[in-house]
Amino acid sequence: MSVKTAVVGNISTGNSEIDKKMGGGIPVGSMSLIEGQPDSGKSVLTQQILWGSLACGHKATLFTTENTVRSLLNQMKSLNLDMTDYYLLNYLKIRPIKTVKKGEDPEETLRALIAMQAEEHDLVIVDALTSFISRATTEQSISYFEECKGLANGTRTLIGVVHSYAVTENVLSRISSMCDAHLRLRIETMGAQLVKMLEVAKVRGAQRTTGNIISFEVEPNWGMRIIPFSKARA
Ligand SMILES: Nc1ncnc2c1ncn2[C@@H]1O[C@H](COP(=O)(O)OP(=O)(O)OP(=O)(O)O)[C@@H](O)[C@H]1O
Ligand SMILES: [Mg+2]
Repeated sequence: MSVKTAVVGNISTGNSEIDKKMGGGIPVGSMSLIEGQPDSGKSVLTQQILWGSLACGHKATLFTTENTVRSLLNQMKSLNLDMTDYYLLNYLKIRPIKTVKKGEDPEETLRALIAMQAEEHDLVIVDALTSFISRATTEQSISYFEECKGLANGTRTLIGVVHSYAVTENVLSRISSMCDAHLRLRIETMGAQLVKMLEVAKVRGAQRTTGNIISFEVEPNWGMRIIPFSKARA
């Protein structure tokens, strides 16, 4: 078992514009929520965060319901975020996990997920919690985030990804209020274009309502490319 000491600072989102909107990036030793519509860029964002954190010398673990080790490494390569060496050196752990099916009680899986995260690297991302949270009661969902918050406790950085459709507004606002940061992704129509939007809904306990939105597109061999609003609206 490793002894953890309190650390300060931020983990880069892999994109300086987003970091700026967040006052530096994802706070180290915190619990964050990435929430959004299907196809809005949640996984690409988590991949950029992984890249940003590994490049800064952190170790990271990704629990994924969406990829195998191979498909994840290939996906990242296609975004010019080749993490194969980090994976081979064990700085990055990729742990595929099963989703919870209809009719199954998510309690056991949520408990197991908390226990597994406690044994992992400094940065732990779960992409996505959707199948667990969508089958959980409000109490189970809240309790999962409460326990994660306790686990983070100033030393470990945890990020959970949830599809917006999996939670009611009430549950979402309760989860959000427990998290140190909440990033919300959506797709909007602007003229003839579909544009991805990232909103820093909350960071470090401070609720913000405006001025924290970025529009972007996902570009092969590049990742998230910010689109200036003037261009997005054209
Ligand atoms: N390597 C890539 N090259 C080009 N486009 C990509 C690449 N990887 C992802 N994309 C595009 O980026 C967009 C966002 O993908 P991403 O997987 O991050 O969405 P998501 O919100 O995680 O979706 P889901 O709800 O299915 O999990 C998609 O339109 C996808 O086609
Ligand atoms: Mg995804």
